[in-house]
Amino acid sequence: MKHFLSISLFTLLLFGCGEPSQPVAKPNKKQTGKETYTMYCAMCHGISGDGVGTVTLDRPARSFIDGGFSFGNTVEAISKTTRSGIPGTPMPPFADVLDDEQINKVATYVRSLAPTVQEVDIEDTEMVVRNRPIVARGTLPPVQDGLQLHPRGVVVGNPDGFSYEYRADDVRLLAIRQGRFVSRADWGARGGSPLTMLGKIIVLVVGGNPQPMFTTLNGEPLHAQLVATNTLGTYGTISYDLLDKNGGKYATVEELCKSTTLTRALIEQVLTINTVKPFQIQLPNDTVMDESTTVPIGTATRTIIHATKGSE
Ligand code: HEC
Repeated sequence: MKHFLSISLFTLLLFGCGEPSQPVAKPNKKQTGKETYTMYCAMCHGISGDGVGTVTLDRPARSFIDGGFSFGNTVEAISKTTRSGIPGTPMPPFADVLDDEQINKVATYVRSLAPTVQEVDIEDTEMVVRNRPIVARGTLPPVQDGLQLHPRGVVVGNPDGFSYEYRADDVRLLAIRQGRFVSRADWGARGGSPLTMLGKIIVLVVGGNPQPMFTTLNGEPLHAQLVATNTLGTYGTISYDLLDKNGGKYATVEELCKSTTLTRALIEQVLTINTVKPFQIQLPNDTVMDESTTVPIGTATRTIIHATKGSE
């Protein structure tokens, strides 16, 4: 209820007050960072940046003068937070309200409120996907309570804000997330360090613990051995060989995932397959595929479609 009130108050502040002839929602280009701050941020963060604004929030806004920025304190990091907001908190996104220049100015102003500390770039703790995909390797914490940790994991983050979590000992897609990517607090430990997933799960493939997806025609599971990770345009890819228990090769697969939006987001898991021995795809529960589950010798593609959970 309180939350609802604060949000509607926020909307009111942004769009509702002032003279009807002078809508507050249209900041002018020449506005300084401080003016933008006063108009759009001070109600929550306080005029002086102390975190005490006029709006009551169920979660306190950040005090900038104390300098505790958990998403990095460079102007770039602050701009990014301002642009996209912090999902799940009252911090709203301003991408549709302010243009890049205004965001840069207000972020510079916010930065100036903080004590002069050494700048911590966001990259030091959080990997941020910008225009290109990022592939991170490391230990995956259990995707859900009660599931196992995977010491070898790969997470692919694409610029569209979706990320894909794979176990890498036997390549299997475990979960699909949306939002921020990965933080790696202790990256010094050379790949063995745990990755912290920051996005929200929108697909848990077979409860986060899928069986092998490929088998021989007789139903013997094939091992999916990681060969390489790569990028293809704005997608991260993962390639693997399908091997039987004697190491006999059935196929090489290059996989990428992309989102498409119909009434809600669908994820397409696209497999480009080079087959030397026919095999079978065992579709994970709650997915559909465009073509036959039997894959013949030669080159083929298969697209597996995952429906995502609603956003709430
Ligand atoms: C409706 C209230 C509200 C408004 C308006 C608002 N913020 Fe926030 N902001 C918050 C809250 C709450 C948090 C803390 C979120 C959390 O719990 O991590 C926050 C966090 C932040 C952070 C993250 C600091 C960190 O930890 O790294 C930045 C940067 C920020 N706000 C900038 C701004 C800017 C710039 C504006 C104006 C353009 C603004 N905010 C407007 C509520 C608001």
